[in-house]
Amino acid sequence: MGLAAETVNLGRVFRNRGSVVQALENVNLRIETGQIYGLLGPNGAGKTTLVKILTTLLLPTTGEAYVYGYNVAKEASKIRPLINLVSGADTPGYGLITVRENLWFYSMLYGLDKETARERINRLIEEVGLKDVENELLRNLSTGYRQRMNLARGLVNEPSVLFLDEPTIGLDAVSARKIRKLIKDWVKGDSGRTVILTSHYMAEVEEMCARVAVLNKGRVVAEGTPAELRSLVAGKTVAVMEVWLPTDADRVLDMLEAAYKTHDPATNIYRIRVVVNNWDETANIVEHITSRGGKVLSLVKAMPSFEDVYVKLVGGGEVVSEFEA
Ligand SMILES: Nc1ncnc2c1ncn2[C@@H]1O[C@H](COP(=O)(O)OP(=O)(O)O)[C@@H](O)[C@H]1O
Ligand SMILES: [Mg+2]
Repeated sequence: MGLAAETVNLGRVFRNRGSVVQALENVNLRIETGQIYGLLGPNGAGKTTLVKILTTLLLPTTGEAYVYGYNVAKEASKIRPLINLVSGADTPGYGLITVRENLWFYSMLYGLDKETARERINRLIEEVGLKDVENELLRNLSTGYRQRMNLARGLVNEPSVLFLDEPTIGLDAVSARKIRKLIKDWVKGDSGRTVILTSHYMAEVEEMCARVAVLNKGRVVAEGTPAELRSLVAGKTVAVMEVWLPTDADRVLDMLEAAYKTHDPATNIYRIRVVVNNWDETANIVEHITSRGGKVLSLVKAMPSFEDVYVKLVGGGEVVSEFEA
């Protein structure tokens, strides 16, 4: 087997009333089985489009995509039994049924016999930690439990490849950590299992994934292990600064290729990170800011992080870093 998924010069275009969006362009990926593989990128990078193509929900415009060697465009019926998809934004549409009833409903959709369904649901309710809420109506679930329920639903057909589109989006730190652990445990449970997950949280991808593809504007801009990606900033230094900016803040920061992690609109103070080749360059940055009427309030030296790699690859702008390990 070897490959869980593969894309060859894959492209996807959306046309809406005259406007053309190249959501994916010339994407070439080979995703091995038995690992968690990350698709990392900012909003609009093309992550969901790629997942939809691999899960046979959307056709490629150009190129090919395969899951377990089956062509997504021609052999979708071979692929569907092997996969499942859970989106972090999923709100189960049947708020008036219970967690257990919902899992039962999906088991029947997947054509499980009743005995198998009962056993599997009991096991999933244990493993995914849904015992406390198994008889709760879906509409009463907290976001954290809802995501666990979605994950259990995604495991009902015992997929070989589980696709997770932003599995921890909108979750508090504790719930997100539980979800990440469940995903990691599931992959470890059998060497044939593969997870392909999307995220825009760099630290999440670094923690969970054996390999990562970084997408930006529909293209793969880097691919490798988190350590390999991190080495792209090896030997560099990061200037962490608190900066007050009067006007045109975005333009000033864009020129620096800075990631501004926090911006307090009340005070116009930005906390930014700039990757520099050596510390002497920070003098130029300070000059850049002050000559535009800004003030540098503090300046601290830091080690480059995975997040800095990401900023380097996808450019400046607001970096989402809600994740706390
Ligand atoms: N159904 C659609 N119709 C038109 N444009 C779309 C559609 N789906 C996605 N896009 C566009 O394709 C690009 C990639 O979107 P998406 O794959 O959802 O990115 P991501 O999941 O990385 O945020 C975006 O510019 C988005 O607006
Ligand atoms: Mg998306």
